[in-house]
Amino acid sequence: TSSPLTDTFGRYHTYLRISLTERCNLRCTYCMPSEGVPLTDKPKLLTNDEIYHLAKIFVQQGVKKIRLTGGEPTVRKDIVEIISNLKKLSEHGLQQIGITTNGLMLTRLLVPMHRAGLDAINISLDTLIAAKYEKITRRKGMERAIAGIDLAVQLGYKPKVNCVVMKGFNDNEICDFVEMTRHKPIDVRFIEYMPFSGNKWETEKMVSYRDMLSIIKNKFDNFVDLPNAPNDTSKAWAVPGFAGQVGFITSMTEHFCGSCNRLRITADGNLKVCLFGNTEVSLRDALRSNCSEDDLTALISAAVKRKKKQHAGTNNSGTSFFKNIPIMNTKHAVF
Ligand code: GTP
Ligand code: 5AD
Ligand code: SF4
Repeated sequence: TSSPLTDTFGRYHTYLRISLTERCNLRCTYCMPSEGVPLTDKPKLLTNDEIYHLAKIFVQQGVKKIRLTGGEPTVRKDIVEIISNLKKLSEHGLQQIGITTNGLMLTRLLVPMHRAGLDAINISLDTLIAAKYEKITRRKGMERAIAGIDLAVQLGYKPKVNCVVMKGFNDNEICDFVEMTRHKPIDVRFIEYMPFSGNKWETEKMVSYRDMLSIIKNKFDNFVDLPNAPNDTSKAWAVPGFAGQVGFITSMTEHFCGSCNRLRITADGNLKVCLFGNTEVSLRDALRSNCSEDDLTALISAAVKRKKKQHAGTNNSGTSFFKNIPIMNTKHAVF
């Protein structure tokens, strides 16, 4: 018999991404409009206790890794308490708590988060030029984000640095990012730009995995392919002798839906079974109507069973996605 977290394609979901807030202290142009996204009223957001309660159900069903996302998860006032609380789930089988952040708050929060039990950290940084950073994020902060990366290294993390590559904007900085891995034990990951509703995505703005590889190999001719972990979103590479490594997240040209092990909970408590999909079911409402744990598990399982084989717009040969672009149709991006 299969787990409640196994879907009809045999994918077993052991990785839960929990969005803690819709708010963000940046306004990246590919993510939100300058005025920000419409915010859900606070009483409708999951509380720290509700997050714990839901996470526990998932961990009991086999989730091994939880990632906190947003919006920007560190703008949530109780972030440190949320991490300490979730850490208690280690006794039920949780192996890793990670966070994906823009890094701006790390100089203030990383030490307490580390103490609370944070295991892994991914930091978004799309450019190494301050003026460009302000252009893409509509705010200042590049130096603080870089200080956050360095602090993470000092504390013993091997941070992943997420760089969304956009043609004509930062594709000329790809080799500078690779250069960062020479002395820093970080994992720089180049991400193919994805379309979300309203983010002005165009085919021409996307730089493909193949193109990024040839740009890098042109300068670093000994760039090598490394083995990948089974459910990784990224394809690992490195320059031999460098302290860090490089990865490519090829959501567009070589999607990895076949090995997807991820489920998501939005800040307002909806279960989302795919990044590119509508929300499925309100776990918050079920929780607040005093559903039993068995009922909640059944609700989650039913949604997991409705998960599609892959995100819209890609066929099995992976060639036709441009004809049928997957546009994320929630009111804002939940990563
Ligand atoms: P690790 O847990 O460290 O492996 O990180 P991750 O790559 O799963 O997550 P992160 O939050 O760092 O996201 C990096 C990029 O991967 C972002 O652009 C995400 O939108 C993308 N990504 C994460 N999960 C999925 C997914 O399930 N499907 C697709 N297509 N992209 C994803
Ligand atoms: N395409 C690819 N990646 C994106 N991210 C945000 N928007 C997009 C997009 N349209 C990345 C952020 C962050 C991660 C959670 O998702 O840069 O690193
Ligand atoms: Fe904020 Fe992340 Fe969106 Fe940028 S991509 S505006 S850092 S939530």
